[in-house]
Amino acid sequence: MDAFVIEGGKPISGRFEVHGSKNAALPMLAAALLTDESLELSDVPRLEDIANMLRLLGELGVEVNEQPGKSRGGRTVQTQVTDTSLSHARYDIVRTMRAGVCVLGPMLARRGEARISMPGGCAIGPRPIDLHLKGLAALGASISLANGDVVAKAPEGGLRGATVFLGGPFGSTVLGTANIMSAATLARGRTVIESAACEPEVVDLGRLLQTMGAKISGLGTPRIVVDGVEQLGGARRRVMPDRIEAGTYAMAAAITKGELTIANWPVDALIGPFEMLRDAGVEIELSEHDPLDTTGGDSIRSTAFVRRTGSLRPVELTTQPFPGFPTDLQAQALALLTLASGNSIITEKIFPERFLHVAELLRMGAHVIRHGPTAVVSGVPKLVGAPVMASDLRASAGLVLAGLAARGRTVVRRVYHLDRGYQRMDEYLTGLGADIQRISEKTLEEVAVPA
Ligand code: EPZ
Repeated sequence: MDAFVIEGGKPISGRFEVHGSKNAALPMLAAALLTDESLELSDVPRLEDIANMLRLLGELGVEVNEQPGKSRGGRTVQTQVTDTSLSHARYDIVRTMRAGVCVLGPMLARRGEARISMPGGCAIGPRPIDLHLKGLAALGASISLANGDVVAKAPEGGLRGATVFLGGPFGSTVLGTANIMSAATLARGRTVIESAACEPEVVDLGRLLQTMGAKISGLGTPRIVVDGVEQLGGARRRVMPDRIEAGTYAMAAAITKGELTIANWPVDALIGPFEMLRDAGVEIELSEHDPLDTTGGDSIRSTAFVRRTGSLRPVELTTQPFPGFPTDLQAQALALLTLASGNSIITEKIFPERFLHVAELLRMGAHVIRHGPTAVVSGVPKLVGAPVMASDLRASAGLVLAGLAARGRTVVRRVYHLDRGYQRMDEYLTGLGADIQRISEKTLEEVAVPA
């Protein structure tokens, strides 16, 4: 296991190009199971979660080829189904990557059967999949549990369209919508998904499915209508930019009083964080004409200039389904607001337990009081470096941001969480002026406790 050793206090400045989105790429890769033809996805990020998804697809009879991509750090992944007799997504893989659940809908629709290890909870709280199962049952699937696996079987004659309501106690479900929409593309008749997730990653998946021949309308709205077709063909698509990576780097510039040009910024996908940063006193401007853009910009891609010169203002922030402020940027925003001049209030409405970063930030001098799903963050003039423990992907990013701004040395342990969702973050931040070293935790112990 690796740790980051961060010497704080260095402003982040320069230019960063956002990679393809992890959370869009994962269900798009799973869509490979829906067709006998080849799928080609470009701008697929190089991340642990993606590597695990490709491993899972391999186990499910999909041949995967990779080529270096045109943009920096991306790659093109080509998939081709070669064996349709396999249908078991094993615990070993789903345990490491919860998004393995998004093979469920495609496998059931195309192979008539899917067996997937029931994903457990994780550091951000319970992660049920009841809405996924309810949706698939509405399409006619029989669902049972065996040995910790969910076993789903399509009825004789295949899945059939139905009206499915995907609203749950915390809003809709992103991967649940992806699963039902994917399965419905090959069901007989019309499926109406009510209370569908409007997240940009679901729209990106829907656009891929449309290119494959699916008949889908209502993408980006809470009602998605899918008219089933006999079969889907191959397609090519470039994965959308990662809105969470983009937001995280913007906050890195903001927390260190830096100045960053962020290319491949997904404009429409970042409305909530854009507003929040401006409210907090961060200067942020968009330009559609970036002379250095190598990504072949289109309407959703822009370049953002992020800068902070003055002090941070406190804000009131609630995480919500899209287009609200994303839960995946809550830990980073909380870290930023620890340095605001006043009290901020952060309410987590998607994963109410997602506050493991708070206890670690307290060790760095932050003042945060938590009441259930709400954290009151009283800004302090400075954070001080400390050894801290990463607990999940986005909490780790919050701790790295705090470390960048803190006085002295911060050691963030267990950064494998970070590697699941941020491509070589230590190297990119170092290139932008940070002082970060990646070392193995074993080395860390040897340094801390000399023999
Ligand atoms: C996706 O997870 C993302 N993961 C998460 O990002 C993100 O935090 C989340 O959406 C919310 O935006 C991927 O896309 C791979 P949900 P997902 O189903 O789809 C409850 C990251 O850091 N719920 O939309 O699994 C659930 O408990 C990750 O990159 C049910 O009650 O999340 C939560 O409270 C972490 N029953 C809420 O709905 C269900 O069947 C939203 O969860 C499913 C979900």
